[in-house]
Amino acid sequence: MQVLAVTPEIFPLIKTGGLADVTGALPVALAKHGVATRTLVPGYPVVMAAFKKKKPVHQYAGLHGGKAAVHAARVGELDLLVLEAPHLFDRVGGPYGDAGGKDWPDNWRRFAALSHVGADIAAGALTGYRPDIVHVHDWQAAMTLAYMRFGDAVGVPSVITVHNLAFQGQFGAAIFSELGLPPRAMALDGVEYYGGVGFLKAGLQAAWAITTVSPTYAQEIRTPQFGMGLDGLVNSRAADLHGIVNGIDVDIWNPAADPHLASRYTRTTLAARKPNRRVVEQRFGLDRDDSPLICVVSRLTWQKGMDVLAAVLDEIVAAGARLAVLGSGDAGLEGALHAAAARHPGRVGVVVGYDEALSHVMQGGCDGIVIPSRFEPCGLTQLYGLRYGCVPLVARTGGLADTIIDANEAAVSAGVATGLQFAPESGAALLHAVRRMIALHADKAVWSTIQKQGMKADVSWDGSAAKYAGLYKSLLARKAA
Ligand code: ADP
Ligand code: GLC
Repeated sequence: MQVLAVTPEIFPLIKTGGLADVTGALPVALAKHGVATRTLVPGYPVVMAAFKKKKPVHQYAGLHGGKAAVHAARVGELDLLVLEAPHLFDRVGGPYGDAGGKDWPDNWRRFAALSHVGADIAAGALTGYRPDIVHVHDWQAAMTLAYMRFGDAVGVPSVITVHNLAFQGQFGAAIFSELGLPPRAMALDGVEYYGGVGFLKAGLQAAWAITTVSPTYAQEIRTPQFGMGLDGLVNSRAADLHGIVNGIDVDIWNPAADPHLASRYTRTTLAARKPNRRVVEQRFGLDRDDSPLICVVSRLTWQKGMDVLAAVLDEIVAAGARLAVLGSGDAGLEGALHAAAARHPGRVGVVVGYDEALSHVMQGGCDGIVIPSRFEPCGLTQLYGLRYGCVPLVARTGGLADTIIDANEAAVSAGVATGLQFAPESGAALLHAVRRMIALHADKAVWSTIQKQGMKADVSWDGSAAKYAGLYKSLLARKAA
């Protein structure tokens, strides 16, 4: 089976969050199920630099304002189709904005163009290649399904995966005339959304199947609280909505073989985590002692509940824990965390920035990782935590609720606990959970049982890749019927 995936990010080439990890790992896992994935990605400078042979498999004299070409490229185990379009993607900065973090004003055009090309490929633009299924990720690729539906690839089954309903790609009506869609597409059952153009909305409307990245989030987005205005549409498509939890790449995230770690270890050599802990202490300027060391690896945003954490940092320190925070995002939150570090030298350390290598060492050396998200479609850092014996303390929402077994009394005595959950999203509940964590940590036997239990959990892609493969098959059967 041939699947064309369309995504704005893919690990290891370009990553701003978990989406890249998923689009980078899922094709490899799907290959074991007889699914061959080719992934269309924008030719950002880092992507163009990643492959040598530049022989276009398709060319455009004019694609949304400039020349463009599609290149077939293999990077590691990934089979890529790279959209080279310098007027859209050859820019200094991130995939969505300049180096200062300001969104590119023509993002609608950049990702409409990516999607347009996705639909062209679905319709047979590449000689000798016809995908059986088209699978698009998030709003940046969602318009692929609108171009297919209002173009020449109406009959190709499609899947849209929502990684985060908060990002919708909503633009003014004025852009519609430049999208190259027929006038009838500007309708309620097309791309129109509250008088403007909604990219994600258009994809949700047109997709044969909708998936999101955990069963609980799939239920949550049907409610006004989590639906971000799209709950009505999501509910109308409930029969085609699936929650499939993310896995992780257990080769890249393997404490027994991780090149980023100062010391590698397994479930039976947990004491060998200590040198990693020393690296974290040094890097974050923390006291060198045996008190619980809790970390954060996160975008610093409201979604991630970082304000809730910042508000109780003094109490967390008073309770006896140390905190190492790696993240970037909201300037106000960065400031609040820096201020906490200044108030608590040796107890709270903050590194602002994005550092993949450091994130591995933190998982490999800290006692716990705290994830107080207000909503979390899946979350990957708690899965890395499980795999690394870095016990997750999470808010009970979305994929966090689905992947962590709370260390309540019953679960602890049955030996099945893998972490801690708290609810509701309040500083008091978070603090209570941190205190529980500190108490559990003090009991070495209980703590190492929780660590080992987490390390035993199957966080690989195996089960979920089988679910995606099954979904693809069911769509092909629907097409044939
Ligand atoms: P989201 O995609 O919403 O940010 P996820 O938990 O799904 O949340 O994925 C986040 C990914 O980004 C993880 O791989 C995590 O390790 C990584 N990450 C987040 N912030 C940083 C950072 N400051 N440095 C390194 N890695 C980070
Ligand atoms: C989004 C979500 C996160 C999820 C990731 C990968 O960024 O915020 O919860 O893990 O996508 O699906």
